[in-house]
Amino acid sequence: MEAMTFVLFGATGDLAKRKIYPALYNLFIDHKLPAEFSVFGLGRKEIADVDFQASVRESLAQFSRRPADGERVESFLRAFRYSALNVNNTEDYQKLLSAVEIREKELGIPENRMFYLSVAPEFFGTIAHHIHENGLGAGKGWRRLIIEKPFGHDLESARALHQQLSKAFTEEEIYRIDHYLGKPMIQNLEVLGYSNPVLQALWTNRYIANVQITANELVGVEERAAYFDQTGTIRDMFQNHMLQILMMVTMHLPQRSTPEEVQSKKRTIVESLRPMSKEEVGSQIVRGQYTAGMNGSVPVQGYLDEHGVAPDSTNDTYVAGRIWIDTPFWNDVPFYIRTGKRTHEKSTKIVIEFKEPLKISTEANQDEAEPNLLTIEINPMESITLKLNTRNAGKGGKIEPVLMNFTTNSKDAPEAYENLIHDALRGDATFFAHWDEVELSWKWIQPALEAFEENLIPLHTYAAGTNGPKAAHDLLAEDGFKWW
Ligand code: BG6
Repeated sequence: MEAMTFVLFGATGDLAKRKIYPALYNLFIDHKLPAEFSVFGLGRKEIADVDFQASVRESLAQFSRRPADGERVESFLRAFRYSALNVNNTEDYQKLLSAVEIREKELGIPENRMFYLSVAPEFFGTIAHHIHENGLGAGKGWRRLIIEKPFGHDLESARALHQQLSKAFTEEEIYRIDHYLGKPMIQNLEVLGYSNPVLQALWTNRYIANVQITANELVGVEERAAYFDQTGTIRDMFQNHMLQILMMVTMHLPQRSTPEEVQSKKRTIVESLRPMSKEEVGSQIVRGQYTAGMNGSVPVQGYLDEHGVAPDSTNDTYVAGRIWIDTPFWNDVPFYIRTGKRTHEKSTKIVIEFKEPLKISTEANQDEAEPNLLTIEINPMESITLKLNTRNAGKGGKIEPVLMNFTTNSKDAPEAYENLIHDALRGDATFFAHWDEVELSWKWIQPALEAFEENLIPLHTYAAGTNGPKAAHDLLAEDGFKWW
């Protein structure tokens, strides 16, 4: 891998401490960073290099999956420098440029620069503009930009943001992180597809009855009301993570593919999502908000009583939806998606329900077999389970479900951010969100955003610690299905 400079905006922020430094450190230990690299942390406060290094050391001690001690961590930290920067101040970018150049010369490394914007999205445009205007991105090497969701608040703001960024970086240089795409089981979907002819053959509307994608959480709004009460689950989870999982699970890859091929398959899916009008939202989407209830054995308050939430907020903490993909592969297969906070469990999973088995009625057996299910658990377990039916001779020939299960032991596996930062440093965009996907996702979901805002559809409640509002279950019952 080519030597580079990692320029981190928001270096004193929470994401940097919890995710970015531990990711870089673990990549360093695994020899997945270039032999020579330099890191510039940027933030508003003035901080001396040694104090900055000490704070990185502290975050590693707290959040790294590997111990951070001894000479290893010291040699890692020697790459770190800090510069104070006001994002609107041209002079600060000039100072940064000369500091980066001096360091590149000291190390004898090329002008490859990775800009990571770990800051609030309202600063993305300004920072990109200044990087461009002040020549930070005009070195002889490559330049890349990593940003994190949210990419806009709706279709219009997403487009405006894209326009701003496009003035400074090309699409190939922009790496949009959706951390779900860094999860090992989501990355595994690509491999499951192309390396198993058995599954490939079944991956169509001919054999699949429905697909269910769940991302349930135990946590509530926590300390994030200022953000979340303006955002809701529909923007926080559904428009990005959930639709990305949908694309990953439905694209057909006949073989190992290039990032461009993956992006093009994903675009086909999101382009083919059946549009809904604002008036149709109510029949396809359920929105919910939690009321007081339990988190395990601990009583917890309802959303409206959470600190920082408007007492009359109609914000959604739960969304379930039925989606159709109008392609020859997926015509007539409903995709059910649900995600909510303060449910009864932390569980992210995909369940593929295969079409109804033949009704079995023999002398020995009057019972009905259950449908075959393929369950892919993403979090907190990582496993794949195929449920088949078999005759149990010991029980008078009764037909029983049997589970074929594979559970990964991923305690030592890299975290999402390690995978993603490593890919971005290598210039591999396979597991990043392309602008087309982002724009088309916003476009598809825009009528729902409007229906929510205008209160055109009911706001269902569910008690904290339960399995979501009843309406989310009715959505499947209408089609003769249930959530697995
Ligand atoms: C984030 C959302 O993107 O994903 C959070 O902003 C949510 O609200 C989190 O809790 C869930 O991520 P994970 O990896 O714990 O499933």
